[in-house]
Amino acid sequence: MEIKLAKTAGFCFGVERAMQQVYEQIAKGNKIYTYGPIIHNEEVVKDLKSRGVEVIHSDEELSEITEGTVIIRSHGVPKEICEKIERQGLTCLDATCPFVKKIHRIVSEESAKGRDIVIIGNDKHPEVEGIKGWCETPAVVVESEEEAEKYTTNNPKGVCIVSQTTFNYNKFKDLVEIFLKKGYSISTVNTICNATEERQTEAREIAKAADVMIVIGDRHSSNTGKLYEICLQECKNTHFIQTLDDLNLELPKSIPCVGITAGASTPKNIIEEVQNYVRVNF
Ligand code: F3S
Repeated sequence: MEIKLAKTAGFCFGVERAMQQVYEQIAKGNKIYTYGPIIHNEEVVKDLKSRGVEVIHSDEELSEITEGTVIIRSHGVPKEICEKIERQGLTCLDATCPFVKKIHRIVSEESAKGRDIVIIGNDKHPEVEGIKGWCETPAVVVESEEEAEKYTTNNPKGVCIVSQTTFNYNKFKDLVEIFLKKGYSISTVNTICNATEERQTEAREIAKAADVMIVIGDRHSSNTGKLYEICLQECKNTHFIQTLDDLNLELPKSIPCVGITAGASTPKNIIEEVQNYVRVNF
């Protein structure tokens, strides 16, 4: 039996970098907090907790902390959170992915010039919440064609459009088209990160060729959920698991090809465990 493991499975550049920063701090023996879970993976958060890393869930919880280092998650946070951490005399270590940081810079500069900011993305996602918090003026979040159609402004300085890093490129293009027809002065910066698209394209290719497909990731991770949907379209026998314990595969011994992929927050050791299990048992 052949096992096709996606090359893009597991930590993306931004997540890898954030995790490295956390482990460096653990090695230094500092008291560490992360603002929000550092990445969307329960197993990782549990492991970090066992090493003394605590998660701050809210502004109120942050107010009660008087010493230590607070690490900002890879998705980023609003500017005021970073300022508050420093005001409280804590050390703020920014592990925001550089691609997200770039969006913070753009919206901060463009809104300071007086332009309206439109963020194409999901208003409830922590990354978008963070981006909004770097705008000098309130930003508008647009996710659907209806929302794009409804948008109006009388700002003579025009509009700057950015995107959530994980937004679908084709959908982004369609929404930008709607804005361009409105006749406003519009500058668009495509801030979609290629890591997501590359992972999805590879997952689709592998799922097409596989008889069984395994998608590994946290059940709350939206990028893993999306991978599962894509794989399921191509391979009816697709399984979504968080760890090896969730894998209940009853396979005939003669399955020719099993494909494996994983979300951006899935650690390598979990992927390897699953891969080894499949290799030994089927
Ligand atoms: Fe950064 Fe792209 Fe990952 S924006 S966190 S490298 S998906």
